[in-house]
Amino acid sequence: MARSALLNVMVQAALKAGRSLSRDFGEVQNLQVSLKGPSDYVSQADRKAEEIILGELSRARPTYGVLAEESGEEKGTDGQHRWIVDPLDGTTNFLHGIPLFAVSIALERQGEIVAGVVYNPAMDELFTAERGNGAFVNDRRMRVAGRRTLTDCVIGTGVPHLGRGQHGKYLIELRHVMGEVAGIRRMGAAALDLAYVAAGRLDGFWEESLSPWDLAAGILMIREAGGFVSDRDGGGRMFEKQNIVAGNERIHKELMSVLKRPAN
Ligand code: IPD
Ligand code: CA
Ligand code: CA
Repeated sequence: MARSALLNVMVQAALKAGRSLSRDFGEVQNLQVSLKGPSDYVSQADRKAEEIILGELSRARPTYGVLAEESGEEKGTDGQHRWIVDPLDGTTNFLHGIPLFAVSIALERQGEIVAGVVYNPAMDELFTAERGNGAFVNDRRMRVAGRRTLTDCVIGTGVPHLGRGQHGKYLIELRHVMGEVAGIRRMGAAALDLAYVAAGRLDGFWEESLSPWDLAAGILMIREAGGFVSDRDGGGRMFEKQNIVAGNERIHKELMSVLKRPAN
């Protein structure tokens, strides 16, 4: 598997931030028992990971713009390129000692995602994709799962939490989907969920209220692994609509139609 120089920069940044997160994850588990809890520590780990990533990326391409969860948007002098970064996706898992979290880095060129990296340091799994060059987990090529009926499928989702999303609407969707599928998973790290769809581990995925840094790298991975992604209206405006539905061509279509069902 040949990686471009740009993808290599992204991989090195993700691995370096991943090493920092791994060290901090070990410490979080010690802090769980303390009265104050580890949340301040986790925010620091999150910010530190972002600094490492942005440091590596800007050293390699100082003119590119950046959209990063912790530090926000910074326009570059190069108007064509933008890095989209989530230094720690799955913060709640990280905080609770659950090893399902990831670094997510994507590169956008003229509004199109052209490269993506999702790295789960706890499992040392590196998911990568470049437009036109396929998607890989470590060195293995990824393909979306080939299941053809929802009854055989395991579908990932994100449950809206306190103060976020429309809980009533979500419960209706969940009721409809759970009546059609083999299983539903809520893993707690959207970037990783999308990588798992690309890897064929999840047959499909849907979630609302997501940000570009949750979505960007995973969208490219699913496309490069032969899958389909859209917003809830079937278009390609996932960033603006802040939602996503994913799967292979058939499962994506079936999931879309189940999600559109009226309440009763
Ligand atoms: C969150 C995770 C989670 C999703 C949330 C995201 P964060 O990202 O991806 O799975 O349900 O909506 O905000 O805050 O851990 O980076
Ligand atoms: Ca996130
Ligand atoms: Ca985050």
